[in-house]
Amino acid sequence: MSKLVVAVAGATGAVGREMLKTLEQRNFPATEVIALASARSAGTTVPFKDGELTVQEMTDKSFEGVNLALFSAGGSTSKTFAPHAVKSGCVVVDNSSAWRMDPKVPLVVPEVNPDDVDWHAGIIANPNCSTIQLVVAMKPLHDAYTIKRVVVSTYQAVSGTGQKAIAELETQVRQMFNGLDPEVKVYPHQIAFNCLPQIDVFSEGDYTFEEIKMIKETAKIMGDESIKVTATTVRVPVFYGHSESVNLEFEKPVTAYQARALLAKSPGIQVYDNPGEKMYPMPLMAAGEDEVFVGRIRQDETVESGLNMWIVSDNIRKGAALNAVQIAELLIVKGKLKV
Ligand code: A2P
Repeated sequence: MSKLVVAVAGATGAVGREMLKTLEQRNFPATEVIALASARSAGTTVPFKDGELTVQEMTDKSFEGVNLALFSAGGSTSKTFAPHAVKSGCVVVDNSSAWRMDPKVPLVVPEVNPDDVDWHAGIIANPNCSTIQLVVAMKPLHDAYTIKRVVVSTYQAVSGTGQKAIAELETQVRQMFNGLDPEVKVYPHQIAFNCLPQIDVFSEGDYTFEEIKMIKETAKIMGDESIKVTATTVRVPVFYGHSESVNLEFEKPVTAYQARALLAKSPGIQVYDNPGEKMYPMPLMAAGEDEVFVGRIRQDETVESGLNMWIVSDNIRKGAALNAVQIAELLIVKGKLKV
């Protein structure tokens, strides 16, 4: 066996910790795993397998002798360090938005566009968490019935913003139960017992950058500019698991029954849809799971061929860490990463 040294860049963060857990759970064939973060965390430890890894400060030199780097340390950190990693001969799978729309960088969801890894030039981008769960459910339906238009509204967990946002929701809830004013630091408004229809900054046409990411990334991953996508993204006081209300309009006729049957046999999806038994996906059931859960599948009677559905997935897992590790596994299967 040749050596396969893996670096997790951002190992102390919410996604970085999940990447370590995912590598362990899936028995990823790494011969060595290195934990990298900022100078602030150097010398601290993160759990891995039965023990722990000592965190090293990420520098230009960190990637010498490393074969694969899983990055989740923010866009600007990735812009600075990913090129050094590539120069050292390392393949980078990057979870930030830094490289996603770069035409030289494939944006990959293994269930949707696995062959796009073939043209990577060192960096492969992991899509935005809300986009990943959407395209996993869209792909089989688009292949069979041709999606014309998508209207998506999201209900996104605070873990998507990282450890500091998880701590902020916890702290605000505690403060309010103790009769104190909640401290607002991470989000523009209080998140506890509230919903914020702003994720990331406002951009073109008063859409948020998160909404624009969903629209542009969906087109790139699906490889089809003709699908019209519009989005409203909302932060909700949930710790783990993004939910999406999705309205789809199709070229070809499709019934809810047909969609349910097709999704049930599609990769990465679990249909959980039995209204009579009050069974539908919820963030609490999706947290810690690998699948994209789909339920509330029903006909949209206002158009010739349309469906409504409700999609829930763990944003830290399939929406980030798991998708990144699946990309690395795909590289191994395709012989692009030697083990
Ligand atoms: P650190 O913990 O040392 O700040 P989250 O998204 O949960 O906030 O995590 C972000 C991750 O990115 C953390 O592991 C954080 O490390 C890491 N990080 C942030 N800035 C840098 C940097 N300049 N160099 C290396 N790692 C960074």
